[in-house]
Amino acid sequence: MELLKQRILRDGIVIMPNILRVDSFLNHQIDCSLYREIAKEFKERYKDTNINKILTIEASGIGIALATAFEFGDIPVVFAKKGTAKTTSTHLYTSKVHSFTKGIDYDAIVSKKYLNENDNILIIDDFLANGQAVLGMIDIVNQAKATVAGVGIVVEKGFQDGRKLIENQGYRVESLAIVDDFKDGTVILR
Ligand code: G4P
Ligand code: NA
Ligand code: NA
Repeated sequence: MELLKQRILRDGIVIMPNILRVDSFLNHQIDCSLYREIAKEFKERYKDTNINKILTIEASGIGIALATAFEFGDIPVVFAKKGTAKTTSTHLYTSKVHSFTKGIDYDAIVSKKYLNENDNILIIDDFLANGQAVLGMIDIVNQAKATVAGVGIVVEKGFQDGRKLIENQGYRVESLAIVDDFKDGTVILR
């Protein structure tokens, strides 16, 4: 997505060793017209699917998922909450997620009320790095016996394993910008 790529090149800041800060338009301040274009692009790429719900994870995924849901005709957005599920709860789907970037483990948690076997789900997130958050969401959709129509990512770090791990499980991944490398503090986009 050209508009997004230009914005990353203009306003993205590389934090060593390999973090891309996009706080000025994506992760802290939100550029609403860019979000609208991002949403239209996800709609274009997944228009052939019959999705009826979007699943994302707090916090940064929520705004992107909401914008995307408007493009798909105001379908519901469910966001996984991050927390610690004390025991296996009968009313919650939970999946353990390890964040390499943050060096922490958490449970992704979704109430059983909001996913069911008739759902055809688009999974949305802002970043794809090692794929652990997305794999946790896929696990939850599978626990609900719902269907994963695909995964939509705003910025993929193409030098990390996320895409491979998700595709190996048989799922489609659409990323709107792919970072191939960081070189001397600049972003190399595919
Ligand atoms: P993974 O899910 O792909 O394995 O990613 P990982 O745990 O390593 O990433 C942890 C968090 O950091 C995620 O946000 C992810 O979106 C974000 N992240 C990963 N790499 C980058 C990057 O280069 N730049 C930015 N800006 N974010 C990155 P989160 O913990 O789920 O928090 P939230 O921001 O969504 O609340
Ligand atoms: Na995120
Ligand atoms: Na984030």
